[in-house]
Amino acid sequence: MHKARIVIDPDFHIGAIDPRIYGAFVEHLGRCVYTGIYEPDHPTADDMGFRQDVMDLVRELQIPIFRYPGGNFVSGYNWEDGVGPKNKRPRRLDLAWKVVETNEFGTNEFVEWARRVGGEVLMTVNLGTRGIDAARQYLEYCNHPGGTALSDLRRSHGAKNPHNIKYWCLGNEMDGPWQVGHKTAEQYGRLARETAQAMRWVDPTCEFVACGSSYRAMPTFAAWEDTVLSHCYDFVEYISLHTYYGNQTNDLGTFLGRSLDMDLFIKSVIATCDHAKARARAKKTLNLCFDEWNVWYHSMEADKKIPLWEIAPGQLEDVYNLEDALLVGSMLMSLQRHADRVKIGCIAQLCNVIAPIMTQVGGKAWRQTIFYPFYHASRFGRGVALNIEICSPKYPNKEFDEVPFLDAMATHDPEKETISIFCVNRDQHDALQLEVELHGVPDGCRVLEHIVLESKDSKATNTAENPERVKPHNRGNAKLAKTKVTAQLPRLSWNVIRLGKQAAPTKKRD
Ligand code: AHR
Repeated sequence: MHKARIVIDPDFHIGAIDPRIYGAFVEHLGRCVYTGIYEPDHPTADDMGFRQDVMDLVRELQIPIFRYPGGNFVSGYNWEDGVGPKNKRPRRLDLAWKVVETNEFGTNEFVEWARRVGGEVLMTVNLGTRGIDAARQYLEYCNHPGGTALSDLRRSHGAKNPHNIKYWCLGNEMDGPWQVGHKTAEQYGRLARETAQAMRWVDPTCEFVACGSSYRAMPTFAAWEDTVLSHCYDFVEYISLHTYYGNQTNDLGTFLGRSLDMDLFIKSVIATCDHAKARARAKKTLNLCFDEWNVWYHSMEADKKIPLWEIAPGQLEDVYNLEDALLVGSMLMSLQRHADRVKIGCIAQLCNVIAPIMTQVGGKAWRQTIFYPFYHASRFGRGVALNIEICSPKYPNKEFDEVPFLDAMATHDPEKETISIFCVNRDQHDALQLEVELHGVPDGCRVLEHIVLESKDSKATNTAENPERVKPHNRGNAKLAKTKVTAQLPRLSWNVIRLGKQAAPTKKRD
């Protein structure tokens, strides 16, 4: 059995964790909206047609911010189509996903849905087929209190109070040739600058996200960010990052190491932002908005067979196994590890479409395997991200010479006086013997619980028929003696060791 060590000192901070890193993405894509969060004929639907079984699961995840309405979808979207009386809303071809969009669900429904589940909205404007004028009008419709044609139009649609949406993405993946209205970095940088300027004149309280690269392997990566920021550094507060990882070749060692790529991606974007800051002689430091991330590969072949122009077909319906949950856990740790600069993160997506929550039309809703690491990180990974030292044996894979068997992060919640240690054991064969040296352990501190997500079969999934096949237990064996925590981390497992003074209310599922 391999041995690994961690040293933790609650005084050694990376930075305060912005709760918004536990955000999620809702796109008009597949069944994310229609028959996902919204299904008026569903037995649990509320007065607005929102599925309450889904809302209950969303609330469990304590998600503070939701990105909407796309994604590739937004680059051909007319926001006007999705407001006003539903029977007058037009059906349109969605060129991104080759489906028909009914527009039965739109801005006011989404803002109300987000309010009911306790989150705010990260809204995206269309900078593909549209531009400054539509963006500033959309903001006026959403945020201006009243007394103008657009704000009064919103009021006439039943939304008397302004939505006060503070965070706005300036387009989506504009570096990607697949994007409707794809642009060069020069074209986009100028457009992002002018759009942010006009929108800020409409509402000076807003903050803006410029599009970064769609993933690190994009041929234009880093040059794109550099050029875009040369135009709009002073006009935006964040730059976006997106990444998805897959295991198409069934090479688990390589797959589980892909969070190292995410770390590299984040570090490179920080470096590029800081270069742009120096060049602009700017005081402001740009933050990162990792507004699409997840595992995505299971559904890709099946999606090629979906006929054109259907309404809300089941697209991107990845059914996740334990292996995927482990990488999602590592990706969450990657966001925490850069808490000083990553201020917003959105798991993509929330429901049915590469999602932690799945639904049947007219039937059940259940938790996928990846639900659990997200649930634990969002619930227990609040407060301050700690700068921990990890000493772990390593293995080589196709992409990295040295991948540690142990992936770990720790967070300290000063209010609750708890420390959470998150760990993934990437070892496919053996448990990992963990030793944690704790500096400055408060008197009376003890192990509150050691949660473990594991499975004999690492390909095991949760389905409508067997929705609880993979779920966490809290029978991990972590022990604290003086200043040392020892624990065995089972092979291929996600672990949360919670330390504190008080007994936590034990949740059955944990
Ligand atoms: O989340 C699915 C798609 O992935 C999004 O629409 C797009 O932004 C990304 O390429």
